[in-house]
This record gives sequence, C-alpha cells and structure tokens, in this order.
Amino acid sequence: MHEWLNALPKAELHLHLEGSLEPELLFLLAARNGVALPWPDVESLRGAYDYGNLQEFLDLYYLGADVLRTAQDFYDLTWAYLLKCREQNVVHTEPFFDPQTHTDRGVPLEAVLEGIGQALDDGRRQLGVSSGLILSFLRHLPEAQAMQTLEAALPYRDAFIAVGLDSSEKGFPPRLFQRVFDRARAEGLPAVAHAGEEGPPEYIWEALDLLKVRRIDHGVRAAEDPRLIARLIDEQIPLTVCPLSNIRLRVFEHMRHHNILSLLDAGVKVTVNSDDPAYFGGYVNENFHALYEHLGMTRGQARALADNSLDARIAG
Ligand code: HPA
Ligand code: ZN
Repeated sequence: MHEWLNALPKAELHLHLEGSLEPELLFLLAARNGVALPWPDVESLRGAYDYGNLQEFLDLYYLGADVLRTAQDFYDLTWAYLLKCREQNVVHTEPFFDPQTHTDRGVPLEAVLEGIGQALDDGRRQLGVSSGLILSFLRHLPEAQAMQTLEAALPYRDAFIAVGLDSSEKGFPPRLFQRVFDRARAEGLPAVAHAGEEGPPEYIWEALDLLKVRRIDHGVRAAEDPRLIARLIDEQIPLTVCPLSNIRLRVFEHMRHHNILSLLDAGVKVTVNSDDPAYFGGYVNENFHALYEHLGMTRGQARALADNSLDARIAG
C-alpha cells in the first residue's frame, strides 16, 4: 500500500518553505553565513523538535529561519524541497513563504524572491514540477506591516500567485487583516488563510466572509460547527489539512482521532499536506502513510484526497 500511495500523482497546497529546512541544511547555511546556533549539532536540534502547541513550534521555526540570508540560501532551500516533490510524485506545489520573517532581519525581499523564483523555474524545467508561490502575512504582527509588505511586493507581482495568512492563530482573527486582503484582491490576487487549526470555527467564517479566501489552510476545527460544514460542502471550499502537523502540535491527541477521513466522507473537499515537513517528521507521502496506518484509509479515499489536491490548485 505504501508503494501505491507513493506512486499517486498529487499536489501539495500547504507547505511553508521555511518549514522544509532540514537540520543538515540549516547547519550548512549557518556555517556558510557565520551564524552562531544555540545547538551544538544536528542531533540536539532534532531533539528540540518536541512542541506543546503551535507557538512552541513557531519559536523554533523563526529561530531556524535566521540562517537564511542570501538568494543562494533561498535557492538551496527551495531546490531541496523540489527534489522531495519529484521523489514523492508531487507534480504540482503551491508553497508559502513569509517575507516578513526575512525582511525584518534585513534580508532584502529581492534576494528572497530571486532565490525561490529561480529554483521554482528550474524545478519546472528540470524536474517537471509545476508550482505557484504564495506570499503569506504574519498575523502576530500589525496589519500595517502586512500592508507595507504587500506594497513592497507588488512590483514583483508575477513572482507569486496568491496571498496567505499564517503564524500564531489564537488572538489574531482574520478580521484584523481585512484591508490588506481587500487591497490584494483589488490587485487581482486570490487569497487563502490559515484558520481553524488552533482557532475557533468563527475564524473560518471570517476568512471566508471578510478575507474572501478560496481555500482554508487546516480548517479541521470546522467540524465543531455543522452550519459551517454544510457551507464548506455546498461551496466545495478546499481545506488543506496537515495530519502529522496536527499531531505534533497537539491539535488531535493521536492520529486515530484525526477527522480528515470523516470530513472527506461527509463531502468536504479535504487535501493532504505536510505543512513544515522538516519540523513535523514527514513529507506528503508520510502523511498519506499515517492515514493508512492509523485510520485505515482505503485506496478510494486516498485517490479522492489526491484528486482533490489537483483540483484545488490556484495555478494552472
Ligand atoms: N500554522 C501557522 N503558521 C505557520 C504554520 C502553521 O501550521 N507553519 C508555519 N507557519
Ligand atoms: Zn501552515
């Protein structure tokens, strides 16, 4: 079954490039850039990958991202991820990047976009992996800073296909970002947003009604609200679900309690994604394997999940 799952053609629609930074590359970039790290070696860094919640993970994720300094660093990061895509039959990917994580440290937006963009181009030509980049705003920072980020990125409008919203969820509802999403929409940019990972179903309603997103990232807490589930089914709004992430961040206590297959069987357009594979112990195929092992996912369900991912693409 594992081989069969690996061979399924699939798209990945919820992947943070910064979260695909494997410890080995992280140490290599730290050495290349002369960045001092708080861990003596790769093993002790891996040992720190134990989180009680989303915030504990994010603290480590932002610390790790500090080794990314040059266009070449962003190229190497993105290229390593694209090689994984080819290996795992991910034929299309729509990765996120967080510009503010880098510009706030003095890394020019141009360097970030140049490195990622060049790797995505090479991935299309040399690996046959199609892609579209999503520019994601950090919700723990004020909307004014998201707006400045959008304005700074608009001259490079062709480098990305949509905008997103991520980082600490609780206490940072989508409604705080309505104006920046209005502005992005006026520029013709589609939107997605993280909602209903740790936050309540109300955040999913806000993402749909106020930010006018076309996909919800995570969204698993929608299950608490039958009216919301009815709407997601009715409008076939995709949820980009990340099973291993949800277990590592304790959204569900164990994989056998995960609701992705119940949502699928109810008619919700759910997809399988890895979120931050370097930090959560697996890429897309390991997520599929876990659903088979712990939830008894059938081939029919796996095919439906993979078809949903190809269907829910924003980029051609
Ligand atoms: N949730 C919110 N923000 C994030 C995540 C996530 O799972 N991964 C990287 N940034
Ligand atoms: Zn995410």
